[in-house]
Amino acid sequence: MVKRGPTAPAVEVDKASFSYNNIKAIDELSLQVPSGISFGLLGPNGAGKTTLIRLLVGLLKPKSGSVRILGKTPSRKTAHLIGYMPQLHSLYTELSVIQNVDFFARVYQLSDKHQRAQRVEEAIRLVDMWQRRKDSVLRLSGGMRQRVSLACAIVHNPPLLFLDEPTVGLDPELRVTFWEHFATLTKQGITLVISSHTMDDAAHCDRLAFMRDGKVIARGTPSELQQATGKPGATLEDAFLYFIHREDRSDS
Ligand SMILES: Nc1ncnc2c1ncn2[C@@H]1O[C@H](COP(=O)(O)OP(=O)(O)OP(=O)(O)O)[C@@H](O)[C@H]1O
Ligand SMILES: [Mg+2]
Repeated sequence: MVKRGPTAPAVEVDKASFSYNNIKAIDELSLQVPSGISFGLLGPNGAGKTTLIRLLVGLLKPKSGSVRILGKTPSRKTAHLIGYMPQLHSLYTELSVIQNVDFFARVYQLSDKHQRAQRVEEAIRLVDMWQRRKDSVLRLSGGMRQRVSLACAIVHNPPLLFLDEPTVGLDPELRVTFWEHFATLTKQGITLVISSHTMDDAAHCDRLAFMRDGKVIARGTPSELQQATGKPGATLEDAFLYFIHREDRSDS
């Protein structure tokens, strides 16, 4: 096995393409995500963010090109290395918070009972749901369910996390809390890949890729992307529109 240095990328996508029947969702996309940072995938509805994340977690296989996470092709064997928070929650609504998180801990093969109980508690406390741990998910608000979904994704302490629109529907206070959780995770050396529509989320990320029509149209740090517009004081929203219009001009 090739030994991976500390700077080896957590995610490497090389000219990957994927189509659902005749819909091209990912189009010869190449991307690298360095380890230990928060990386934002930004793009409008249908840009291909969820499809790219599904390729990275191994739920889909590229029709051409390649996808690697932590130097390996995504498969069942890499499942324990990643945490995945899907765009649509996959919680069992009739089970309690603690039962849900414990279920995911078992799926991720935390077989030692004592260690599992400890990790389940840590994950639930991290998202500040310990007081509600015995409530069934049915009784929780949307934002609380999102917090439980995050706890399920991180319970096995994976080095790489894929979060598909984790902040959608959260109130501003909870959004700040989520970003505090994410900062705690990257400080621990965990790599986060986060999809979003909002430039508010984008500003929190260490690096970004702007996506459209299954392609990456720009990448860089938030300030690099803002500066690329050439306009002093440009926001990330301005930067996104700048790259969209630039693509449109080069297409016509
Ligand atoms: N299961 C599916 N079957 C057929 N087409 C699909 C399926 N899932 C996604 N698509 C199509 O693939 C393209 C990319 O969709 P995807 O869900 O990856 O976009 P997205 O960037 O995550 O969008 P959103 O911001 O709305 O979540 C779209 O054209 C979409 O209609
Ligand atoms: Mg999506």
